[in-house]
Amino acid sequence: MLLFGAICARAVDTTAPTLEIDLSQPGFPVSPTFYGMMTEEINHAYDGGLYAELIQNRSFKDDPAGPAHWQLISAGTGNAITLDQTQPLNTNLTTCLKLTVADVTQGPVEVANEGFWGIPAAAKTTYRAAFFAKSDAPATGPLTVSLESADGRTVYASGSVPAVAHDWTRYTLKLKTGNITPDAHARVVLATTNAGNYWFNLVSLFPPTWQNRPNGNRVDVMQKLVDLHPAFLRFPGGNYLEGKSVANRFNWPQTLGDLAQRPGHEGPWGYRSSDGMGLLEFLEWAEDMGAEPVLAVYDGFSLPSDAHRGGVTVPPGIELARFVQEALDEIEYVSGATTTPWGARRAADGHPAPFPLHYVEIGNEDFVGEAKRTYNARFAQFYDAIKAAHPGLQCIATIPVKSRVPDALDDHYYATSTEMMKLAHKYDHYDRTQPKIFVGEWATREIKHVDTNGVATYNWMPWAYRDAPTPNLHQALGDAVFMTGLERNSDIVVMNCYAPLLTRVEPAAFQWNPNLIGYNSLYSYESPSYYAQLMFQQHRGDTVVPVAMTGEPAKVFYSATRDRQHGTIYVKVVNLNATPTTIAIAVQGAKKIAARGSLLVLTSGQPEDTNTLEHPAKVVPVTTKIKGLGSRFTQTFAPYSFNVLQLNLQ
Ligand code: AHR
Repeated sequence: MLLFGAICARAVDTTAPTLEIDLSQPGFPVSPTFYGMMTEEINHAYDGGLYAELIQNRSFKDDPAGPAHWQLISAGTGNAITLDQTQPLNTNLTTCLKLTVADVTQGPVEVANEGFWGIPAAAKTTYRAAFFAKSDAPATGPLTVSLESADGRTVYASGSVPAVAHDWTRYTLKLKTGNITPDAHARVVLATTNAGNYWFNLVSLFPPTWQNRPNGNRVDVMQKLVDLHPAFLRFPGGNYLEGKSVANRFNWPQTLGDLAQRPGHEGPWGYRSSDGMGLLEFLEWAEDMGAEPVLAVYDGFSLPSDAHRGGVTVPPGIELARFVQEALDEIEYVSGATTTPWGARRAADGHPAPFPLHYVEIGNEDFVGEAKRTYNARFAQFYDAIKAAHPGLQCIATIPVKSRVPDALDDHYYATSTEMMKLAHKYDHYDRTQPKIFVGEWATREIKHVDTNGVATYNWMPWAYRDAPTPNLHQALGDAVFMTGLERNSDIVVMNCYAPLLTRVEPAAFQWNPNLIGYNSLYSYESPSYYAQLMFQQHRGDTVVPVAMTGEPAKVFYSATRDRQHGTIYVKVVNLNATPTTIAIAVQGAKKIAARGSLLVLTSGQPEDTNTLEHPAKVVPVTTKIKGLGSRFTQTFAPYSFNVLQLNLQ
């Protein structure tokens, strides 16, 4: 959301520090792979998030102790719900929900799913329900499926199947809401008035999805992602790639095809993944955003719960060969011709066209214990096999290696804004003969501490902090500070992506903060950091312009690019001070700068301000048309602000 403000007047200050922008130098291209996204299953990013499935624990594997997130609603005696493994749907979905209906004298016997912190009921919306069921009821009457308020008093939509067969059968129906008041905390109820036993599996409810893809993505969240026009999507992790054990790695073949054949797996962030967001869904998600996949392949390193003591590592050599082959097959699934075995499988799964693929990352964060000790050899084993099969693919290393020269090195930074001020210069003097850099995860992660004298410092946020799922203005400014450094050095930092991307906002639902986009079941919002990303992305330009500051003011950071085709210059200035900062801007090498331009400002004045579901637009960028520009002028930048000054060449 870019709001427009009024034209402002300009004062000339001859004593101000000067930002010199040199257009006489050729500069270098802004990396075409700026800016990207990083994603994994964390904070219910997919299940309960982007992946639009609304039923939690649809395959009854979440908790072996009982039917988590399901509830029996019945006043009769002897009615019950239990987990049952005697009626497997198939070899992958082996546990089902058994509903015992013994007493229907008190009314229908119902089983309800609470969804992911509530099922959304939106007005005038068609939901698609689907489930497998079987019954031994002697008289199989209709089974009703309803979307209703959590207390059951209001039914928003309802439908039924006429009877339940004795053998496993898949049933589908549509639930259409009318002009209801939206409810983020509704539930789905299956109800019968016929005694007998009923078994259910893969119980599913989908709202309309992005581009109506079956098994697709949530529309409001997708819109926010698409608006960022990411150049790439790094997936599937992160720690989610590794898993807490080899068996719980992102085992991509088990995430393909028919949902009923996907067993799901235990994720590393404390909850199980349905794998409804499987490899093909990741790829189609990237495709829908116009982004290229950056595919992270499992490299033999998994995280045990005490990850920082070393992890579970498959030794290089014969044991690792199986995972190298898995990676080669995965690459073939993504980008191979349909004449190849895995390319043919992709076509059979519904996507004959190969996906573009230029980057493959070998693992994730192999910087601990045994993983670190063996990465040199493991990387070489993957690198050699991948390059032999796909000479054009770029192989990204997660830590520096000596065995081979990686095409890029993935650096991760989670840092306070104070640290970001240093990190903004990290690549200014980086040895350009070294591998290119992919900053594959980064974010300003901090919490304000005020001492007894009223002096504020910004400290590392404790892991247990659950007050804020998304960043505030000050964190967004820390991000912008860091991004000025990335942009200035985009000859060597060829790709970067903020992480994590998505979060539910309920405190019990997220494991990590901050995150770029927050949501509950019904609504979502952009954080101030989202807007900092958007501002850089929308004012990327094509060429990095040399800039230098004389009389460098404290806590002011800057970069500049130009768009040669449109004759525009984008000057990015971050003012982390509590007071306004006035800077003279001097442009060399331009024939003429138009007197009129614009200033896009992200600030609310209060560094702790943030956006929430209730107040999604507290911190949003505002555009002001400005005049009096030229080859030298002064500009005042607001306290705690990130600014994009647009100059137009004439
Ligand atoms: O982004 C959250 C986690 O941080 C990622 O899973 C991991 O790669 C990093 O340590």
